[in-house]
Amino acid sequence: MVAAKDGKPSATALGHSGGVEDKRWRTGIDQADLVLGGGLVPGAVVLLAGEPGIGKSTLLLQLLDSLHRCGRRVLLATGEESLGQVALRARRLRVAPELRAVATTSLQTIHTLVEEEKADVLVVDSVQTTSSVDVDGSPGSAAQLRECASALVRLGKERTVAVILVGHVTKEGSIAGPKMLEHMVDAVVSLEGERGGALRLLRAVKNRFGSCDETGVFVMGERGLEGVDDASALFLADRRQEVAGSAVFPSLEGSRPLLVEIQALTASATPGQTRRVVNGLDARRLALLIAVLERHAATALATLDVFVACAGGLQVKEPAADVAICLALHSAAAGLPLPPGLVAIGEVGLGGEVRRAHGIERRLREAARLGFDTALVPRGVGRCPRGIRAVEIADITQALQCTRAARAVAS
Ligand code: TYD
Ligand code: MG
Repeated sequence: MVAAKDGKPSATALGHSGGVEDKRWRTGIDQADLVLGGGLVPGAVVLLAGEPGIGKSTLLLQLLDSLHRCGRRVLLATGEESLGQVALRARRLRVAPELRAVATTSLQTIHTLVEEEKADVLVVDSVQTTSSVDVDGSPGSAAQLRECASALVRLGKERTVAVILVGHVTKEGSIAGPKMLEHMVDAVVSLEGERGGALRLLRAVKNRFGSCDETGVFVMGERGLEGVDDASALFLADRRQEVAGSAVFPSLEGSRPLLVEIQALTASATPGQTRRVVNGLDARRLALLIAVLERHAATALATLDVFVACAGGLQVKEPAADVAICLALHSAAAGLPLPPGLVAIGEVGLGGEVRRAHGIERRLREAARLGFDTALVPRGVGRCPRGIRAVEIADITQALQCTRAARAVAS
């Protein structure tokens, strides 16, 4: 911290230096506030990234509407769509008709209007369509992106405007344009989901004013994005307990526990052409788990087609899902449903051993809340929340034995 006083540089005690981050403007959309760390920070710039059609413009229009209703002066600058298109969406979302918007791709116009409108919050949709007359190159080029982003960062700081930039994502999933765009802004938030599905997850990839641990959950409906408070209940809503091949895994999305159903299906394969199809899980991980089950748990899968999916369009990349995936696979191959009140947590090693996972207590609390009564967990878990029994397992063989025993008790 260096502050210049009478031209002489001087240092300040950190404890006495109140930052802008002390003040936040709640957006009024709970799931967004959660991800942002309590709201927008005046003067800070947020980059919202996501694939085309995922719902960025929808979310931002809802966000601006909510901020406007909280008394903030907002301005939407759209370079992607005409004002007519935005107005159509606004009507569909029942956005306040007096909301201020401009269709422009000019950085200079945006600058002038922010001053004229005395905006507190500015949305630029998108940074790739904005260009400055001071720089050569077409919109979206590296030089234009650098100039527009740095000018908007400056504008935010100088006028204490909270700026949200929309950023496109390439097919490979990275933000289009140079990486430096991510370095220049204060926070990078991404909106993700499956195109065909309704589920949308909002995550902070970088956040100078908060953690990157929170995940916002939304469902895209007729009237835009609707926040989901009880996401676990949503993901388990369509689950059929009596079907073989279904296991429940308490995942952790950042610090938020989410119960997800892992589904497996096996079918006889054409000899020499066995298929492994994965949705929402890591394909290499599945190959490894199939090998472990064959070798250590006498589960014959080599001659079968194997399909494994994470229900509800969710992506689970945690190794802690291994035991649940193994149970689902074994249950599918054996044609035996798992006990209905069971969840499973743990990473599986090449020797079939079950390894530790983090956040067990938080996961178990969520499982207990949704009525699950038994959890298979790695050894050395310690405290177990009320309402759920934790059964420690050393390896995958033991996990399968436990489910067999539980099934025998239930029937
Ligand atoms: P959009 O916000 O335009 O996406 P992006 O800005 O990320 O490209 O949203 C596009 C999709 O969302 C479009 O296919 C229609 C759908 N949608 C709804 O399902 N419900 C709604 O209320 C709105 C406004 C859009
Ligand atoms: Mg858009």
